[in-house]
Amino acid sequence: MQMKSNHTKTAAVAFAALVISVLVGHAESPGIRNCTWCHGGSAQGYTPAPRLAGQRAGYIEQQLVSFGKHTRDSPFSRQYMWGATATLSPQAVRDLALYFSQLPPRPANDGDRELVAAGEAIYQRGIPEANIAACVACHGPKAEGVGAIPRLSGLAYTYLKRRLEQWSEGYHGALPAPMPHIARNLSRSQIEGLASYLSFVK
Ligand code: HEC
Ligand code: HEC
Repeated sequence: MQMKSNHTKTAAVAFAALVISVLVGHAESPGIRNCTWCHGGSAQGYTPAPRLAGQRAGYIEQQLVSFGKHTRDSPFSRQYMWGATATLSPQAVRDLALYFSQLPPRPANDGDRELVAAGEAIYQRGIPEANIAACVACHGPKAEGVGAIPRLSGLAYTYLKRRLEQWSEGYHGALPAPMPHIARNLSRSQIEGLASYLSFVK
């Protein structure tokens, strides 16, 4: 309870800071509402836009920069995020990343329950015979993310599945490694298992 109210308080402070920075000289930075009309009222995601609440600040920042530079280039990135980031100042990028990272995330819980065990096994142990590293090594024991490595826990099934498929389809994320190599070696059913498992992790 204590923690929750602290969280809310920090988010409120960050929000106030953002509003102030918009008022005092960053008038060009679009407000939070320019993001939440696609990403959902409390940034919990609204298909096809993923949840931003609780995502790592460093990761959000890196993605916004990469949309702005047109490095992250999937069809939805081009259609929605290239425009949304075109006029963001570096300060607005940092403020938005901090604000969204501090909102409490809710799990999507929308995967296939029958695939959860198979997905969890790959997440925790990898697939040694196929030389696929355990996801846990980078994304953390509860898929909460580490540093600028993203939180995966509770993201929507369709978003996770699409992301994991896009690296094999030749689209790019922000970074050239390690995800393209990892994702290209996953089969369709392994991707469905991972996306199902992760959608339920709190
Ligand atoms: C017109 C709809 C739309 C608007 C407006 C929009 N987004 Fe997005 N956003 C999307 C979609 C769709 C995606 C998924 C892109 C993909 O699948 O490659 C996305 C992806 C993202 C991601 C990547 C998340 C991840 O987990 O990798 C971030 C970060 C993001 N948006 C932040 C923002 C911010 C901050 C704003 C406001 C400045 C914003 N978006 C405005 C639709 C939108
Ligand atoms: C060696 C470290 C490492 C390992 C192991 C790893 N990841 Fe990642 N993952 C990353 C990094 C770094 C990114 C950010 C990539 C980018 O921005 O282009 C990422 C991004 C992702 C994303 C995109 C999240 C979003 O919000 O769009 C998904 C999904 C993902 N990883 C799933 C997995 C799965 C599933 C596994 C295990 C099969 C795995 N990762 C193993 C480092 C790793």
